[in-house]
Amino acid sequence: MTKFKSVYICQNCEFESSKWVGQCPNCGEWNTMVETASSKSFAKGAGGFGKLSGAKSRSLGKTQLTPLSQVSLEKTKRLSSSLKEFDRVLGGGFVPGHVVLLAGDPGIGKSTLLTQISAKMKSSKILYVCGEESVAQIRIRSERMGYSGDNLLMLPETDVDVVCQVLESQHAAHGQSEIALAVIDSIQTLSSEDLTGMAGSVGQVRGSTQKLTDTAKRIGMPIILVGHVTKEGTVAGPKVLEHIVDTVLYLEGDSQHLFRILKTTKNRFGPISEVGIFEMQEAGMREVENPSELFLSLKMESIVGSCVTVVMEGYRPILFEIQALTLKTKFGNPRRTASGFSVNRLQVLLAIIEKSLGINLSMYDVYLNVAGGLKVSEYAADLAVCLAVISSVKDKPLPSNIAAFGECGLLGEIRGVSYQQKRVKEAQKLGYTRVINPENAKTLGQALSLLFSRKS
Ligand code: TYD
Ligand code: MG
Repeated sequence: MTKFKSVYICQNCEFESSKWVGQCPNCGEWNTMVETASSKSFAKGAGGFGKLSGAKSRSLGKTQLTPLSQVSLEKTKRLSSSLKEFDRVLGGGFVPGHVVLLAGDPGIGKSTLLTQISAKMKSSKILYVCGEESVAQIRIRSERMGYSGDNLLMLPETDVDVVCQVLESQHAAHGQSEIALAVIDSIQTLSSEDLTGMAGSVGQVRGSTQKLTDTAKRIGMPIILVGHVTKEGTVAGPKVLEHIVDTVLYLEGDSQHLFRILKTTKNRFGPISEVGIFEMQEAGMREVENPSELFLSLKMESIVGSCVTVVMEGYRPILFEIQALTLKTKFGNPRRTASGFSVNRLQVLLAIIEKSLGINLSMYDVYLNVAGGLKVSEYAADLAVCLAVISSVKDKPLPSNIAAFGECGLLGEIRGVSYQQKRVKEAQKLGYTRVINPENAKTLGQALSLLFSRKS
């Protein structure tokens, strides 16, 4: 069998080397050499890659130019995953030939989510290629989730060429495939004899993805590829797959908490700002339609050091509770720690409070926490962080019906943020009738005087 020749290509400057080196001899960057099948072997047209080179088989005589308006729209009919939160992120369901990469840390719940989708799409046949777990293990999981798995066709296989052949033969046998969706769990376990390198190496992962994408487009079948995230937080090396697939989904969450957020960083067939929210339960994932309730630990109580804020996750406003604890410093340097929020940003906000309100914080340790375990990176949470800290220093609770959002400028001014009306509405819907925001408070001082009398 023809083997592809491997070359190593620098991801920074595209320098090509026949051997792996730690530092690129051309641009001097470290760890940027990635194993790839050489373009010369592509041109030979071996294996599934023959179509890619295309150079030899092109015949200009047959080429037709079609106006876009005359392209049939039938092909864009969407296949629903039957999970509202998943469809929302996809942009309304799968389109034919849609290649979706579902990435996430190990154990976050990717396989569980896919089993859930299979259970929900009970009237469609789904091919499940399991390279990671045995068929029996998957049966145990589906049993646990109360799903018999009648429509799930299992294929324990790690050779990508066999998987492509199975898909093609299904298609050929019925004219149109009986299988509505194929799931590959996971892409890192697949390999091809055409390529050098072990399964899971960048060359193999990229090659396998390319072959599957090719097949998916040819037979018009949507495919979900499960991808593990590396230590550095990227999918299988430096963004190798993201260019090939149509949609990249990330399943995120915290192993200590039960909620999971499904985000998209690339979507050829929908918006990238939508998020889906799930809660991991004993028997699978539950869709969360009203996420704010999940993240508010205390419902409508006045507590010292707590302030509710509204943060946008994509297009959805979500309420979070910011908690601050301030204590007199025992040692020389005050401690500042934050979980779910940037410590650097916290330091800046503390400096703004000191300077613009004259509250001396240098003798206080400050601990900040976003209740629920989610990370808040939007500057819109600034105002709530400041109010929570001030509430703790003054030992006075905020009124229970208060929510606050707005970015704090260095001079103590409160700056506007996106979707203000949407945030106010969401807060009010959940009973936070007084929302301090850039429209009714222009400075930190004004926000404070809306809450406390200035003398106290
Ligand atoms: P899994 O889907 O196997 O993760 P991944 O495929 O992303 O590696 O999920 C593993 C975790 O999910 C495991 O810690 C157990 C938990 N879990 C539940 O809480 N409820 C369930 O119904 C299932 C199937 C798993
Ligand atoms: Mg898994």
